[in-house]
Amino acid sequence: MDNRPIGIFDSGVGGLTVFSEIIKALPTEDIIYLGDTKQFPYGNKSKNTIIELTKKNIEFLIKKNVKLVVIACGTATSQALKEVKGLYQIPIIGIIKPTVMFLQNKKNIKRVGIMATTGTIRSNSWEKEIKKEMPKVEVINRSCPLLAPMAEEGWTNNDIAKLTIKEYVKIFQEKVVDALVLGCTHYPLFYNLIRDELGKNIDIIDTGKQVAKHLGDLLVKEKIENQLNRVPEYQIILTDMEKEFLIMANNLLKNYKSNIYFVNM
Ligand code: DGL
Repeated sequence: MDNRPIGIFDSGVGGLTVFSEIIKALPTEDIIYLGDTKQFPYGNKSKNTIIELTKKNIEFLIKKNVKLVVIACGTATSQALKEVKGLYQIPIIGIIKPTVMFLQNKKNIKRVGIMATTGTIRSNSWEKEIKKEMPKVEVINRSCPLLAPMAEEGWTNNDIAKLTIKEYVKIFQEKVVDALVLGCTHYPLFYNLIRDELGKNIDIIDTGKQVAKHLGDLLVKEKIENQLNRVPEYQIILTDMEKEFLIMANNLLKNYKSNIYFVNM
């Protein structure tokens, strides 16, 4: 048993899609969410910068006494998880492995599409992890650099978002993928538009649910679940003011005990 909070971070609102799944799956855990809004976007930064930012975020959360860190960001998972994993005493998990484990259990998957940020696609991390576990599966990659900034702006369901999604998913229709992984945690915010564009035959996979499940298993395996029988506490910490973030976070947490504040880092 370990009653310390779980730490989560992302560059902005994207990680809230993972946060919301963790709240549902693990309702007894306290959570501290760090949104590095000052450095947003991560998607177009170099690998070295992403490693530095990832270390800074993990060290910040460790100072807040977290028992584990979830990197709720595809860009940081794909370029920094391997580099930072061994550096700290606490477990650190990302979004790729849990999602690939889930994909492996699906039958008849021959071609998988990956939508992600430019940095994630450049790292080829999704393809490497998928090929390691499922060598016969073909992977179709598409970087979608406009989507995270649009999500951060709250543009997830207007005409511009519709056109942008249409353009980005074209390749998955042409190549007839069986499944599409939303490889950036901002992208579930466009789920309905993607679903409308692709129809029902393509399995759209959101990483948040798989991460929450993997996290639950890990807490049990490591015997570090929170066993205090009380209402959990959620803290959201932002490195810069962002109006849209506050709207989304307040909406997500309106029925919970939570507070949001800012830090300068
Ligand atoms: N949500 C992040 C990801 O999963 C980062 C997007 C960005 O900051 O560009 O990749």
